[in-house]
Amino acid sequence: MDLRYEAREAGEAAHQEIRSSRTLDEIEAIRVRFLGRKGILTLLLRKLGAVGPEDRKELGGLLNQVKNEITSVLEARLGELKQAAYSEGLAREALDITLPGRKARIGRLHPTLAVMDHLVDIFVGMGFTPVEGPEVESEYNNFDALNFPPWHPSRDEHDSFYVGEGYVLRTHTSPAQIRVMKSQPPPVRVVVPGRCHRRDTPDASHVVSFHQIEGLYVDYEVSMADLKGTLTAFAREFFGPETKVRFRPHFFPFTEPSAELDISCLVCGGKGCRLCKNSGWLEVLGCGMVHPNVFDHVGYDRQSVTGFAFGLGVERMAMLRYGINDMRLLYENDIRFLNQF
Ligand code: DAH
Repeated sequence: MDLRYEAREAGEAAHQEIRSSRTLDEIEAIRVRFLGRKGILTLLLRKLGAVGPEDRKELGGLLNQVKNEITSVLEARLGELKQAAYSEGLAREALDITLPGRKARIGRLHPTLAVMDHLVDIFVGMGFTPVEGPEVESEYNNFDALNFPPWHPSRDEHDSFYVGEGYVLRTHTSPAQIRVMKSQPPPVRVVVPGRCHRRDTPDASHVVSFHQIEGLYVDYEVSMADLKGTLTAFAREFFGPETKVRFRPHFFPFTEPSAELDISCLVCGGKGCRLCKNSGWLEVLGCGMVHPNVFDHVGYDRQSVTGFAFGLGVERMAMLRYGINDMRLLYENDIRFLNQF
């Protein structure tokens, strides 16, 4: 048979087998069969001896070329199979040593502050501007300018925290009224959220540091009807549209007349229960028409301006809203309690 033909046949057969080989063992078998000591190419090369000198050089070249081609295709396939085997091994041995990450605990507002934000939002919706005042307040702003007489019991050292001569930790947010009115002419329409402090023995409805929101509306024709309308709208917004309100006469030094706002009991609706102590009503806030003596202290004309003010306890609002029966629970920092809100 023609050696050229045989060489080409061998080359093609080898290529095909190499291409369809799947394992390293198969590759080795192919190598032995074509290139081994008794391999097809080796035998063909041996036949060169019988070829006439005129063809030997050309045939020798051809056979070597085929041999080299087979070798290089074989190597390439070998490389591919080795890489595949390696990757497969890696995949099989792979061990996931990663732990799921620790979830970051995201904090959120304390229920008191969440309720405070909500309350402020309601008043902002009615045209009030939020402002703040300092917690360390002059005795004058906290008491005198608000028309507290010198003998008033809350001025007592046993009731308030004095911090140096003439200064006190504000016992309510009302001194902010003085600051705001001294800083601008009427009209004034502000709410003042903030922390206050009193020397109380903590119990179910008192803590030493607590929060209030003060409201103040002063203009030239503000009446008690404005007060009632504003606070009724507020109560219905915060406690629900069915809420009934009543204004009960009261006394505060800095308002005249003064009142307390009650709402129909959230639990019994007015029939009488433990929460409302069978009265059917819950006390919500203090309010009144700004006392003319207060206008004197800030330099407003007591003859021409009028206004109303109110002050509400934020903790009390949070308790009513969430059904919390002891104010101290809010400040024990028990995450199991706080997480509920
Ligand atoms: N400052 C009062 C308190 O701490 C609450 C209060 C009552 C504020 C009547 C007011 C008001 O502005 O008009 O108990």
